[in-house]
Amino acid sequence: MKRVIPIAAAPTLSGALAATSTVVTASGLQTPPPLSLYIHWPWCVKKCPYCDFNSHEAKAEIPEAAYITALVSDLEAALPKIWGRRVGTIFIGGGTPSLISGAGLDALLTAIRTRVTLIPEAEITLEANPGTVEADKFKSFRDAGVNRISIGIQSFDDAKLQSLGRIHTATEAARAIEIALNHFDNVNLDLMYALPQQTMEAARRDIETAISCGTTHLSAYHLTLEPNTLFYRDPPPLPDDDLSADMQDMVEETLAAAGYVHYETSAFAKPRRECRHNLNYWTFGDYLGIGAGAHGKISDHAGIAREMRHKHPRAYLDGADRNDFIQEQRIVTAAELPGEFMMNALRLTEGFPSGLFSERTGLQLSRLQSELLAAQREGLLEVTPEHIRPTLRGQRYLNHLLQLFLGD
Ligand SMILES: C[S@@+](CC[C@H](N)C(=O)[O-])C[C@H]1O[C@@H](n2cnc3c(N)ncnc32)[C@H](O)[C@@H]1O
Ligand code: SF4
Repeated sequence: MKRVIPIAAAPTLSGALAATSTVVTASGLQTPPPLSLYIHWPWCVKKCPYCDFNSHEAKAEIPEAAYITALVSDLEAALPKIWGRRVGTIFIGGGTPSLISGAGLDALLTAIRTRVTLIPEAEITLEANPGTVEADKFKSFRDAGVNRISIGIQSFDDAKLQSLGRIHTATEAARAIEIALNHFDNVNLDLMYALPQQTMEAARRDIETAISCGTTHLSAYHLTLEPNTLFYRDPPPLPDDDLSADMQDMVEETLAAAGYVHYETSAFAKPRRECRHNLNYWTFGDYLGIGAGAHGKISDHAGIAREMRHKHPRAYLDGADRNDFIQEQRIVTAAELPGEFMMNALRLTEGFPSGLFSERTGLQLSRLQSELLAAQREGLLEVTPEHIRPTLRGQRYLNHLLQLFLGD
C-alpha cells in the first residue's frame, strides 16, 4: 500500500461530466447545506512548472474591468439557484488574485454584497503571491472587506524557490508576510515539501521559519507531479517515498509542538482559526463557483448538481457576451454520492458526525455498512453510532481508504 498524500486544495469534480442530467438523483435534502462562494482569478505573472491550477501567464495586460463585469453577470445568472440562501464564506482563488487592483476588488465585493446576503462576519479570503504584494494594496483589500489572506510561500530557501520557478525570493516572502500580518488577523502560508533535492534538514528549516512568522494557519503540501505540467514531462530529482513520508511526519510533529491543530490532510491551524471556506468543502457543503473554470456544487429538491464554468479566460470572457458561462453541468447520481462525500469528509482528521452523511447526501448511512466494516477491519476507520473518524493509518493511506467507497 503506497502512502500517497492527495493535494486537492481546491474542490474537484470527480468522474467525467456529462452534459445531460438523465440519471437518478438523490432525494431532496431536509435542509440546504451551508453555502460558500468561490471566485476564480485565472492569471499569474508567470506559470510555475509544477502547477496544474487553471492559471495562465498574463502575456498582455489583464482585462480586469471586463473580467469583473463578467463575474458579476455570472453571479446574476446563477442567483435563481441560490435564492434566499445566505453566503457564509467567500474565497478569491487563482491563479494570483493579488494581481487585481484595490479598486477592482472593491467594485467586485460591493457588487456581490448588493446581490447576495452575506452572514455577519463572513470569512472573505484572498490568495496572494509574494511577488505581487504591496502594503497599499493589502490595505485596500482589507478596506474592501477581505479579512483573511493566504500567501503562496512554498519555501524560504532561495535555491528551492528558483528550482520551483517562483517569481519571488525568500526575502520578498518574509516581507509579504510582514505586510499581511500588519493588515490581517487571519493569515495562511502555503508551503510545499519534498521539493527537488530537498533534505530533511532543509524541509525542517522551512517549517520552523514558517512557524516563527506566527501566522494563524499553515498549509503544507507534498509536492506532486501533476499531469500537464513541465515537472511531469521533465521531472526534477525528488526525495524518494521513504524520505518524503518522513518529512510528512516531521511536518506534523513540528507543527503540533508549535500549537497548530492538524485538522485536514494538509491544513494546520491555531485553535479556532481553521479555514471556514475549506471546511465547508470538506463537510460537503454547497458552493457557487464563478469565474473561468470555477467548479460549483449546489443542492436543491432535485438533487445535487455540479457545474463548471468555461475554463479558458478567453472562452469565459467570450461566453460572458452571450450570458453563457457554464461549460458542463450534471446531477450527481445516488451511486456516486457516498464516494464524493467521503473524498471530502475523510480528509478531516476528526472525521464527521455520522448524521452528517444523510444530512448532506439525502441517503441512509446504512447503505455503506459493508464498506464501513471493511475499513474498520483494515484499521483505517473508527466507527461509532455517533461519529466516523479516520485512524492515523487511515490518514496515512487515505487514497486506499477512499477506494473502499469509490468502488474500484
Ligand atoms: C493557487 S496557489 C496559491 C496562490 C498563488 N498562486 C501562489 O502560488 O503564490 C495554491 C497552492 O497550491 C499549492 N500547489 C500548487 N501546485 C502544487 C503541486 N503540484 N503540489 C503540491 N502543492 C501544489 C501551492 O502551495 C500553492 O500555493
Ligand atoms: S503562482 Fe500559484 S497559481 Fe500561478 S502558476 Fe504558480 S502556483 Fe500556480
